[in-house]
Amino acid sequence: MSERQVAPRRSIAVVGAGYVGLVSAVGFARMGHAIDLVETDPDRLVDLRNGRVPFSEPGVQEALTAALASGDLTILERTSDTSAEIVLICVGTPIDDRGHADLSAVEAVLADLAALETRPITVVRSTTPVGTCQRLLRDGHVADESRFFTVPEFLAQGSALTDFAAPHRVVVGRSPSADRDAQAALVELFGSFGAPVRLVSLEEAELIKNGANAFLALKISFVNELAGLAERSGADIGPVLEAIGLDPRIGSTYMRPSFGFGGSCLPKELQTIAISGVERGLAMHVTAAATEANVAHQRHFAERIDATMGGVAGRSIAMLGLAFKAGTDDIRYSPAIGLARWLLEHDARVRAYDPAAGGRASRAVPGLIVQDSVMEALAGADAAVIATEWPEFKDLDWAHARGLMASPLVIDGRRLLDPAVMHDLGFDYERVGSPSSGAVAKREASILGSQA
Ligand code: UGA
Repeated sequence: MSERQVAPRRSIAVVGAGYVGLVSAVGFARMGHAIDLVETDPDRLVDLRNGRVPFSEPGVQEALTAALASGDLTILERTSDTSAEIVLICVGTPIDDRGHADLSAVEAVLADLAALETRPITVVRSTTPVGTCQRLLRDGHVADESRFFTVPEFLAQGSALTDFAAPHRVVVGRSPSADRDAQAALVELFGSFGAPVRLVSLEEAELIKNGANAFLALKISFVNELAGLAERSGADIGPVLEAIGLDPRIGSTYMRPSFGFGGSCLPKELQTIAISGVERGLAMHVTAAATEANVAHQRHFAERIDATMGGVAGRSIAMLGLAFKAGTDDIRYSPAIGLARWLLEHDARVRAYDPAAGGRASRAVPGLIVQDSVMEALAGADAAVIATEWPEFKDLDWAHARGLMASPLVIDGRRLLDPAVMHDLGFDYERVGSPSSGAVAKREASILGSQA
């Protein structure tokens, strides 16, 4: 048993060992609850049975090892094998090209639960478009409406375990006929984190989750749009955002300019929320624009690289970072992957390095050369492009890197580096949100100067 137990010990089944499921499972095990972790995917099951986390997320491997050793966590391959009193459904709800969520995995778990003799408290933690839980009830997928809830998760990859233990809020969505004891059990379980708890309807809970993610996406899209305007106005976005953020109504967090946002959540959430509006006869102008803007920002960055290099065809580019953000090996909707594809389509030679996502990326992008070290990626490169904000790129020995590169040009899509330091080291340094310093023009002028 773990030392820390902040709520009475519960038996909890977590169905689905993806980011949300596995983090929830080890997180609750750490709190001393008895966890059944159900995974049906054969490859993941092999990993888990061997005590291995099938993806990269800080702290999760250690927590899984400890939970298996303490006996607080048991791995199962069928939902029907659990007799837990609470079941958390954490399976995937991928969206199709038209923005509709595929709910077949959630429905399959509900069918398994309906076949049980017991009636566990059933909690949807997978992200679902507003109205989904009501539809599951209406279409007869739920065995007992009074024990059916949704408690959306708000974990961010790269800090998922920390977020699990310190949520900003706990949202418990329930139907009007919710069983009071079941509701109280969930409030006690999730309330043990000390965050404000909000008891709302099923639709409200879904909309809180959809809305929070969409709002975050809007924020970045706007920041990136403003960064583009700064680039074209001779302004630097850094001091602009710093001063704007001093107004507490705006705030200064989640305002880092980038060449676009990615991941399995924000792009998907924008699409789902837009579709949810359209299905109800409401045009979601702002939401739709945020998606368009995100595509445009990624294209603009690729074109800026092209312009800065005087064309990428035949040039060698070192791509630093492939994951959609630092701290994860996830490449879903990663702007870095989109950029690598664009560069390859435009006949650049791309040699990339990522501390965690290299394997996944080389399988996903034909023609991409993934190196084992950052210096190998940089050797002989005509330019380095920073695509993911890994701290190790910030801490790199850039003086050494300069000696390895064919041309000292760094184009920073994450504003990770200090321009003054880079210039002192002799680099041409370009970054999103700052006006172009005309690297090509400068270099050509210096070549002409040396020939004169
Ligand atoms: C997001 C939300 O932040 C979580 O609260 C939510 O629970 C999660 O989705 C989910 O629905 O499961 P996540 O996708 O893991 O989390 O990552 P974020 O940190 O939100 O980053 C998303 C993208 O935005 C990344 O590409 C990141 O690089 C980019 N970003 C983020 C910026 O470009 N600028 C910023 O200031 C912040």
